Amino acid sequence: MSSNQLDQKSKAWSALFSEPMSDLVKRYTSSVAFDQRLWQVDIAGSLAHADMLAAQGIISAQDHQDIQKGLEQITQDIAAGRFEWQLDLEDVHLNIEARLTQLVGDSGKRLHTGRSRNDQVATDVRLWLRGEIDVLQGLLTDLQRALLDVAERHIDVILPGFTHLQVAQPVSFGHHLLAYVEMLARDTERLTDVRKRVNRLPLGSAALAGTTYPLDRARVARALNMVDEHGEPQICQNSLDAVSDRDFAIEFTAAASLVMVHISRLSEELILWMSQNFGFINIPDRFTTGSSIMPQKKNPDVPELARGKTGRVVGHLMALITLMKGQPLAYNKDNQEDKEPLFDTVDTLKDTLRIFVDMMGGLTVNAAAMEKAALKGYATATDLADYMVKKGLPFRDAHEVVAHAVKTAQVLGVDLAELPLATLQGFHPQIEADVFEVLSLRGSLNARNTLGGTAPAQVKAQIARHRARIST
Ligand code: ARG
Repeated sequence: MSSNQLDQKSKAWSALFSEPMSDLVKRYTSSVAFDQRLWQVDIAGSLAHADMLAAQGIISAQDHQDIQKGLEQITQDIAAGRFEWQLDLEDVHLNIEARLTQLVGDSGKRLHTGRSRNDQVATDVRLWLRGEIDVLQGLLTDLQRALLDVAERHIDVILPGFTHLQVAQPVSFGHHLLAYVEMLARDTERLTDVRKRVNRLPLGSAALAGTTYPLDRARVARALNMVDEHGEPQICQNSLDAVSDRDFAIEFTAAASLVMVHISRLSEELILWMSQNFGFINIPDRFTTGSSIMPQKKNPDVPELARGKTGRVVGHLMALITLMKGQPLAYNKDNQEDKEPLFDTVDTLKDTLRIFVDMMGGLTVNAAAMEKAALKGYATATDLADYMVKKGLPFRDAHEVVAHAVKTAQVLGVDLAELPLATLQGFHPQIEADVFEVLSLRGSLNARNTLGGTAPAQVKAQIARHRARIST
């Protein structure tokens, strides 16, 4: 294709084509509207490729220099918003290449030697995603830190722990928040693992079968920092797989979906805790909205929206995995559809995490309401059973004795700790005055002093462990 032909791709790809595309088909097949955000990595990939072509004597030093100069000019133009993106030129790759040729002539046309858009786009998406994963890892750490700060301030605040959304046992609010830190820590691990498979070089696979030029793929991999922790170049080893594989995008989106699922679970709790029936917490007003009709309302819109956006990200995972199903080797145009779901997944995740870091930082806690709620529902019944076991009763029998005690307390409308000692002794003679410490919320909390338990000593130890983990 000559440069002015490339400029007017609408006419035809080459002499082979006898009719132009309709505007509708042009719009349908073009990706430049959304893939232009790959411009920086596209140029980085081209610079690495050109440097290698020159080092291998495939293009001249002069061509290399021209290409570098032209791409530098294009970088400045795009960064300054001066670049004219053309729908006619289909995608980011053809737009940049056509402009390069316009700027530097035949040298520009030599850039695509030993390369195809198939290995080019796969490389671009991987480079872009690698950078975004690094940003996301930072945000996940920020959110863990924000949660740790709130947890640390509320180690001794007690709220009812639920199973089946029924009051189960008292837990520390700090401990509760640390459950989310665990989830986010696993998310971070998952992304670290995904990143290893993202950070592999397809370039050099050309269209699908490799190329006849003596390329140095390792040099390109090193230039693009596609290396492992020992500095070994990471190169896709099968050209057919390299140009068609999008597993890395799918597994990233799966990991992102789990992040959103965790955010969604946290959101659900924030929403419940904020409701008048709980009254446990408040989030700053800037994350809420009012109602146009009910003047008293303050709605937790941000957590609700985050819960809703989880559906959007999980939808992208479905889109990507379905996109790959049944695709024969090697590259198929289907793969152009990988970009919007992937981009939107990253955008949604970044916004959500940034907002949550800020929102968790502004969380306020109503400790009295939490404790009051923990006093409802016989949250220390298990502690009474454990107390009897320590007196020698088999656990199953103790369970039964306590069930009777709870039934009596329910009838009287009081808590277990409010039953007189004589009444308690009626259920079992071995119950003594020390039972009241056991029946208290704080006694119950302190007693759960096993690794991973809710006793303040354990929560403190976990916070220290997380802080050390995050600071490395
Ligand atoms: N815009 C295309 C994409 O996003 C680039 C690769 C096109 N390759 C091709 N053989 N049509 O996948």
